[in-house]
Amino acid sequence: MNIDYKALAEKYGTPLYIYDFDYIENRYTTLKEAFAGKKSLINYAVKANSNLSVIAHLAKLGAGADCVSIGEVKRALEAGISKYKIIFSGVGKRDDEIRMALEYDILLINLESEAEMKRVEQIAKELGVEARISVRVNPNIDPQTHPYISTGLHESKFGVEIAMAKRMYIYAKKSEFLNPVGIHFHIGSQLTNLEPIREACGIVADLVRSLKAIKIDIKFFDVGGGIGVVYDDEVTITAKEYTEAIFAMTKGLDVTLLCEPGRYMVANAGAFFTKVLYEKLNEEKRFVIVDGAMNDLIRPSLYSAYHKIEAVEKEGEKTPADVVGPVCESGDFFGKDVQLPPLEHNDLIVVHSAGAYGFTMASNYNTRAKSAEVALEGGEDRLIRKRETYEDQVRLEREYLVK
Ligand code: LLP
Repeated sequence: MNIDYKALAEKYGTPLYIYDFDYIENRYTTLKEAFAGKKSLINYAVKANSNLSVIAHLAKLGAGADCVSIGEVKRALEAGISKYKIIFSGVGKRDDEIRMALEYDILLINLESEAEMKRVEQIAKELGVEARISVRVNPNIDPQTHPYISTGLHESKFGVEIAMAKRMYIYAKKSEFLNPVGIHFHIGSQLTNLEPIREACGIVADLVRSLKAIKIDIKFFDVGGGIGVVYDDEVTITAKEYTEAIFAMTKGLDVTLLCEPGRYMVANAGAFFTKVLYEKLNEEKRFVIVDGAMNDLIRPSLYSAYHKIEAVEKEGEKTPADVVGPVCESGDFFGKDVQLPPLEHNDLIVVHSAGAYGFTMASNYNTRAKSAEVALEGGEDRLIRKRETYEDQVRLEREYLVK
């Protein structure tokens, strides 16, 4: 498709996120087809990109949702995801969040500690309901990814060890207010190697077998998210390889397979567009100063993440430059030593692979308004989030202002 990004940048202004909805559909269908022949549910990890229209697009395709706050659960419901396709995970759920999740009657509350299990039991008792639960198991596997997005080792705060998980299932089974129907693990994000997933799957499948032996019947086997995507020249896991490994390790179990991809669905559907404000040449360094900043897309600053950066429709001899934003932090950059042609005021720059953990991690630091978001679908563009204004930002403060 030939898209006139310059025209879109003019129409909607910059900085701007643009998401290709056809790409998202393609990703969803590819993964769903790779599960063919098995009972499965793809629970899109809303944290990756929680724009209502993005979730609604996936809802129409049949996706469920993986949520980590009641806010995300509300988004999923509002976007049209059936309550029976929603999972609520997270290490620190508040009482009011647990209560609401039970009232909404979502598919599963995923427990991350024994203490949390007792809270859920208590609240379910108060409401006179039975809570469908799963336990997040920490299989102690090194996922071989960035330490900040690695979650499956015992030193991480997520989930519980196998022995504890077993005790929790036994307790839950006896409780009038808990119904242990699921099991869950998630060892990390941006996994480009199958082996850790295979290993974790095997460990957790063994636990399911040993639970079955004591009459605890697990119906939902949730392998978490984490499928890695290509940002640069990574060789990553294909949908088929992924599901085949899961099938092999869960052989003989009569379960519905759940997975929670976030990045896989949306990372490469999205790009971030920003305009050049100035070029600046120091003695040793070339800087391209753009109107987007770390508050819009924090991945390079936070994880030293690589995002491919290009100038849109601009020719000329390329030389290395740091692409930086206007925020008052040295860490405010999108890329270092990026090969770029000579640039002028208002030239357009694209930061690729920005559809996941881009807008959702944006902030208002430096009282910068959050960008607009646009969807492209079947050759048409449409606004899916208005650009924030100064008014939006001070709305919750103004009435308290004492002069
Ligand atoms: N399920 C659970 C329980 C998770 O914690 C996560 C991500 C996912 C699913 C989705 O993982 P994915 O398929 O997107 O890899 N902000 C970081 C990523 C943090 C991921 C947190 N958990 C980044 O920008 O790379």
